[in-house]
Amino acid sequence: MKTIDRIVRPAYRRLESYTVDLPTVPIKLNQNEAADELPDDLKRAIASELLTVDWRRYPQLTPVDVVEPIASTFGLDPSGVLVSNGSNDVLRAIFDVSVGRGSRVVTLTPTFGVYRLLAEQREAVVDCSPLDHRFRVHDRDLIERSRQATLTIVTSPNSPTGTRVKPETIREVCRQTRGLVVIDEAYVEFTDQDFLPFAREFANLIITRTFSKAAGLAGLRVGWATMAPALARQVQKAILPFALDVVSTIAVRTILDNWALVESRAGDTVRERDRLIAAVANLPDLTVFPSEANFFVVESADRNASAIIAALLDRGILVRPMTSYGSTGNGTERQLFRVSVGRREENDAFVAALSEIVADVQEVRP
Ligand SMILES: Cc1ncc(COP(=O)(O)O)c(C=O)c1O
Repeated sequence: MKTIDRIVRPAYRRLESYTVDLPTVPIKLNQNEAADELPDDLKRAIASELLTVDWRRYPQLTPVDVVEPIASTFGLDPSGVLVSNGSNDVLRAIFDVSVGRGSRVVTLTPTFGVYRLLAEQREAVVDCSPLDHRFRVHDRDLIERSRQATLTIVTSPNSPTGTRVKPETIREVCRQTRGLVVIDEAYVEFTDQDFLPFAREFANLIITRTFSKAAGLAGLRVGWATMAPALARQVQKAILPFALDVVSTIAVRTILDNWALVESRAGDTVRERDRLIAAVANLPDLTVFPSEANFFVVESADRNASAIIAALLDRGILVRPMTSYGSTGNGTERQLFRVSVGRREENDAFVAALSEIVADVQEVRP
């Protein structure tokens, strides 16, 4: 037996590593990050506060300096709020306390790949409720599947599709399931529907959020969740001590003090998204799907998505293939790619490049 086979659990040996292609490009529209960098004065305020703290010292054991402002900004009970380094790690903690070998994890397909990774690490069974051809949730199917689930996890708005799940559907899932329900609201700032009030209503529901997208702090790694305090006390046990560093702590406090800026920038992104979707819809042989997030999906009728992605890359623009998100429907391969909304001039460059690429296809057609 090889050393690796002896020392690494079979579940991990079977796993595919999570990968993202990250070439350096002038226009990066592939990871749903905030379109704009934080204003200089905010970054400076964070940096100068960092100079006043003693770096030898551990941060707070549980980061109350972040939990309290999150709770007051969003009107929550602080004893139900948990914070860790990235919502990925919050999700990891949730899976740690609820999912084990043979557990049933229900999610959507296509959706964010980390849920499958977390489930497979724990040798759980993944059961996906397929979105329809326009990426809408099959409400009945999701409710049915989640009845026997250990954990049902739904993203709203969903990545990579930008579609939402209906409140009535979540209410039924929470009522009918015997397990835990998680709604990942990583992109909630770009839509007008949120599930925070539901976390007060259902003892088996967790809402996760992140500072990585609209709040523009992906580089610092802060995510959080809200749930019933009794459940929070359990999930907290899976978050390692001192998870949140002082840089993130100071940055999040500063961002929360300036939350109106985050909201107004999210509003700008939504307007840009709608402008971009309308522009792409005018191009021949492309279908663009409605989205409630800071990204959207495009389908090509007559050209490989990978050829379009490569042609965009040749022009210095990086978008995301849909291949890592699971099945996109009915067994036939669809030609899809996902585009994050960038700054206005980046979006204009994207539309110009895509029009050129599509025009090339038209020319070679007999
Ligand atoms: C749906 C969804 N959830 C969670 C995350 C992870 O976010 P974080 O940076 O907070 O770990 C992402 C990041 O792409 C995401 O798309």
